[in-house]
Formats: sequence, C-alpha cells, structure tokens
Amino acid sequence: MKHIEALDAPYEFTPDDPVDHAALQAAHPAFADFAAKLGNTSLIAVPGPPGGAQVLAKCEWENPSGSVKDRVAYAMLARAVHEHGDLPLTRLSVLEYSGGTLARSLARLCAGLGVRARFVLSSASPRSLLDDLAADGASVVLVDRDAGFIAVIRTALDLAARDPDVRLLYQHRNPANLAMHQRTTGAELLGQLAGRAPAAWVASIGTGGTLIGTLRALRARHPDVRAIGVTPDELPYGSPEPPNGLPKYAGSGGFGDGVRQPFVTLHEHEVEHHTVSYPQCLTAMADFHERTGLRIGSSAAANWLISCRIAAGLTPAETVVTVFPDAGTPEEWRRIS
Ligand SMILES: Cc1ncc(COP(=O)(O)O)c(C=O)c1O
Repeated sequence: MKHIEALDAPYEFTPDDPVDHAALQAAHPAFADFAAKLGNTSLIAVPGPPGGAQVLAKCEWENPSGSVKDRVAYAMLARAVHEHGDLPLTRLSVLEYSGGTLARSLARLCAGLGVRARFVLSSASPRSLLDDLAADGASVVLVDRDAGFIAVIRTALDLAARDPDVRLLYQHRNPANLAMHQRTTGAELLGQLAGRAPAAWVASIGTGGTLIGTLRALRARHPDVRAIGVTPDELPYGSPEPPNGLPKYAGSGGFGDGVRQPFVTLHEHEVEHHTVSYPQCLTAMADFHERTGLRIGSSAAANWLISCRIAAGLTPAETVVTVFPDAGTPEEWRRIS
C-alpha cells in the first residue's frame, strides 16, 4: 500500500513550480495547443446593487473546455508529466476524483497527450459529463451520491493507495492547483485592475484553489482586500453536520463532519464565509440571463449573489471582484427553462 496523505492532514504550501513550461510545451504539442487557449479571460462589469460598489467578474467559460478547472487540469498534469520524466506518456496513468468540471477538462487534455485517465465521480453525475468522458476514452468509477463528495474523495485515495502504477492528482492538496491560480488568475486580475485596489475578492470554494491562490496574488499588491468564500447552504464550509446527497450548486461545498479544505486552512481566520442554496442559484442564473443575455453556471450565480451582497455595503467608488467558473451544464439549464 502506498502512503497517501489524509484529506484533512495539516497542510503546508510550497509555491515553487519545478516545471519548465516552455520545454514541456515544445515536447508535447497537446500542452502547447491547450496552453495557447488557456487563461487571459475577460473581466466584465456585471449588474450590482443600486448605490453600491461596482462588481467585476472574470469569465472562465472562455477557457478551452469551458471552465476555470482548465487552469488546474493543465497545471496538475504538467507537473505529473514533468515528474514522469523521459518515459513514454502511454505509460502514465492518472487517477482523480471530481465534482465533474475538472474531470471533463483533464479527460480532454489526457486524450490529446495519450495519457490514461480514470475518474471517481458521484452517482449524481449528469449524463452529459459521462458521455464526454467516454468520448475522450476515460474510465469512470461511480460512488453513491448519498455518501457525499467526501466518499468520492476517499474512494479515489483508497484506489490510489492500492495501485502502485497510478498517479493520483489530488486537487485538494496539489500545490500546482494553488500556484496556478496565483500565477495566472491572480496575476491576470492585477493587470486588468490596472492599479485599482479591489475592496473584496469573492470566490466559491471547491478545493479553494481559486479563492486562495488568487487571494495571495491580490494581497501581494493590495494587502487589505477582503477574502469572501462561498459554499452551498446545504453543506457549508467546515460544517460539523454529516455529509448529505442534497442537490447543491456546482463544483463547490463543505465536506461535512467538520473537515475543512486544506488550502482554505492556510488563511483560516481571514476568510469571511457566506452560503447560497441551490434554488437561489437557479433563480439567479435565470435572472442574470434575463438582465444581461449571458449564461452563467450555478457557482457563478452563487458568486454573483454574494458579490452583490458585499457590494451593497460599500460605496460606488469601490470594487468587488469575483469569478464566473463556467456557463452551466445542459442539465442545470434544463432545470431552469
Ligand atoms: C463549476 C465550478 N465552480 C467552482 C469551483 C470551485 O473551484 P475551486 O476548486 O478552485 O475552489 C469548481 C471546482 O470544481 C467548479 O467545478
């Protein structure tokens, strides 16, 4: 049995990136093609509360497979391929658990590279996701939805511990996740804000990579920016309740049983936590679409609602920045119309 760190073991972050990205992209055209379309997403002004701060959002559906997780898929896979050395990529086999969005992105990239991919997912995963993964040649293990996402993670850790030939990417503890958001999402935002200091940074927490990685980049230039984390009402960050199979907005959530996301524990006393229910997100998706003509996903809707709540307590001269992780799945949009 391989030793794999427990999800809630104490976490320390080392920011160095050992990967020479230019060399890696030169050696593997699939990385170069993906990287060429990755990041540098638009920052747009979105409707905010009357008389409150301006709300700006980063449009992550512009990434190659349509979500913020493309950044993390690229970064974690780049590190895995770098550590695989000169061996052929057909001998690399990666395993990861996912709420869905990361798996879609990783499967696409792995197919292009010729790397074998296996995913552990909840049995609540939508048909469109399973079809996309099958089309990219990935294999899938499903875990009963009522056991919650933590059971999905534990199943993956268990499979990885028993299989010496598989490499677990482990998004909740992989430093490449946090480092990528610091180096790209955060750095892009600083450039787009052009010296303007944001009053608050709002992001939904799945791994917390987006929230914390970007926060670290923003704080390096604007130390007073508030950090606002968003999780579902049905299972908030750090909840002592047991895990549950209730429908929640996409890609985010507490684990239950008091377990906390390792990245968020790095800034435990600095993050203000807010929650949004799934029905509120679906209503906000419809409302946002009606007001702007744009389709945003349920976690984007959660971020928008909380950004508006924070902006309502600020002045029009101030700015709240947030992220729209994706544009929503076909299943989410069917629930609305
Ligand atoms: C749609 C969606 N929104 C938000 C998130 C949260 O991102 P992070 O893992 O960086 O906290 C995820 C993560 O999977 C996601 O899939």
